[in-house]
Amino acid sequence: MNQNQHDSDAQVMRLYEQLVEIEQRLIPTGLHVFGRPSELKEKADLLRMVASFDRPEHSVRALPGLVAEALGIDGYDALLQEAAASETKDLIDSIVLEAVRQFCQEGTDSAVELLNSRANVDCEKSLPVFLMLGNIAAQLDSNNEIESLLRALRGEYIEPGPGADIVQNPGVLPTGRNTHAVNPYAVPSQMAFARAKLTADALLRRHFEEHGRYPRALALVLWGLDNIKTQGEGVAQALHLLGVRPVRDALNRATEIEIIPLEDLNRPRIDVVMTVSGIFRDLFAPTMALLDKAVRRVAALDEPFEMNYVRRNVSEKIDLDGEEFDDAVTRVFSNAPGSYGTNVNFMVMQSEWETGDSLGDLFVTRKCFAYTCDSKGRTIEGREARDLMDHALSQVEATYQNIDSFEVGITDVDHYFEYLGGISKAVEKRAQARPAIYLSDSLSPQAKIRSLEETIRLETRAKTLNPKWYEGMLNHGFRGVAEIENHVANTFGWSATADAVDPWIYTDIAKTFLLDSAMLNRLQELNPHSLRSLIKRLLEAHDRGFWNPDEEILERLRDIVGDPENQPEEVA
Ligand code: BEZ
Ligand code: MG
Repeated sequence: MNQNQHDSDAQVMRLYEQLVEIEQRLIPTGLHVFGRPSELKEKADLLRMVASFDRPEHSVRALPGLVAEALGIDGYDALLQEAAASETKDLIDSIVLEAVRQFCQEGTDSAVELLNSRANVDCEKSLPVFLMLGNIAAQLDSNNEIESLLRALRGEYIEPGPGADIVQNPGVLPTGRNTHAVNPYAVPSQMAFARAKLTADALLRRHFEEHGRYPRALALVLWGLDNIKTQGEGVAQALHLLGVRPVRDALNRATEIEIIPLEDLNRPRIDVVMTVSGIFRDLFAPTMALLDKAVRRVAALDEPFEMNYVRRNVSEKIDLDGEEFDDAVTRVFSNAPGSYGTNVNFMVMQSEWETGDSLGDLFVTRKCFAYTCDSKGRTIEGREARDLMDHALSQVEATYQNIDSFEVGITDVDHYFEYLGGISKAVEKRAQARPAIYLSDSLSPQAKIRSLEETIRLETRAKTLNPKWYEGMLNHGFRGVAEIENHVANTFGWSATADAVDPWIYTDIAKTFLLDSAMLNRLQELNPHSLRSLIKRLLEAHDRGFWNPDEEILERLRDIVGDPENQPEEVA
């Protein structure tokens, strides 16, 4: 085979893998309607995801693992961690899909039989999986949301349930309960710590492959709800990057840390700058103390600079600026007590910003409150420390956030760009270089890391431009158009904060929703206000230099917003 042939084969393979990735991406195909149970199709997708993880707490094995074992395929776990698509993976996935469909249509016995005849899976092994799925399916059908709301309004007691994603913890069902959070002392759980190792290693590997070295420092975004859902996967990732593990005290509380020796770590300890949301701050005070303690312990280790980036950065700061150790080691930042959010999203949505730097500065203004303690162990909760945050960010070479849900992705809400985009912009000015920006996909069994640009492409193809997604939204009438407009605005947020949106994305949005006259008319009928905002956002993308389409397209968009036929009626 000559080199050309080889290259084009590799290209076709990459293309194939990307197609499979888009095809298999689980997406919500409509909004949740309060009080309405999910439909069969939605249920089948969810159950398949639930069944792709081992559930030791229910003595249940993952279906793909069972099928692989029954087919005599060795090393399935390793295969799963490989990025490449393969016929073996396809075969296993198709059998699992078929079995779950059979289960939804014909029930447990029939699905157990199918797996036995198709893949020789022992009935005793698959039965517990389908019994568990049966319970989950029944709970998905029983919907107490309206009843519970009415009871809550009458001041009655509402049973509590854990806060999580159904796939992470099916125990969240049935819905319509009072979500109780989490015991912060239980975070991170052992499972979260084990999973976080895979993700943190994949993140560092990806950076190494792209940049030839590990990042000198990494800025991490931590959210409250996410760490509730995952029992602290984000927290555990931060600990792994630092090269430490949590240790439980006599009351089983994660209040201590233990250093992982460099011989076991096999890589340098990474400096991590953590910005936590207001919700995280309110829920996880002991966890913030744990993270702060971890950084302090690592900074004080007697290790060579090239293996301990925390110590290197802290020592440099002390030597250069005569900073005290307590200040130089500050790495956990959040809003001022009682304050929430970055406001970066509001500036972007209202088009009230001039330069990207102003967005990064706003992020720091809102988030530069240090949560730490001094050398005597006295807690400091929310001391304004702008200089310290500026300096910590000036060392950062990569920014990162863990994504743990298929339902809410980076173009579904404006919070991802306000946080990850905001911090990336802040780093860009302070480090005088745009950081590498990464996201994980910790929901998939394969701990996958993607660049921001890759994630935006994937989300756009799987959602915004996918007829399954937008038709699902349009079934909800005016609200669906508002959702589409939201996606476009959130996509634009990634241009504003990270210049990370390929121009073809805006062009394809215009073609799909505006240049197709039948679609344009539908949107106009359903929700002229959101339609107008959508077009104005595309024109703003052009005005700010993020998109440079053919003049014809621009003219057409300007015509539509200027056309008296398309003006929303004023409400008297
Ligand atoms: C949080 O859970 O911390 C969070 C939720 C929504 C937006 C930002 C943060
Ligand atoms: Mg909005």
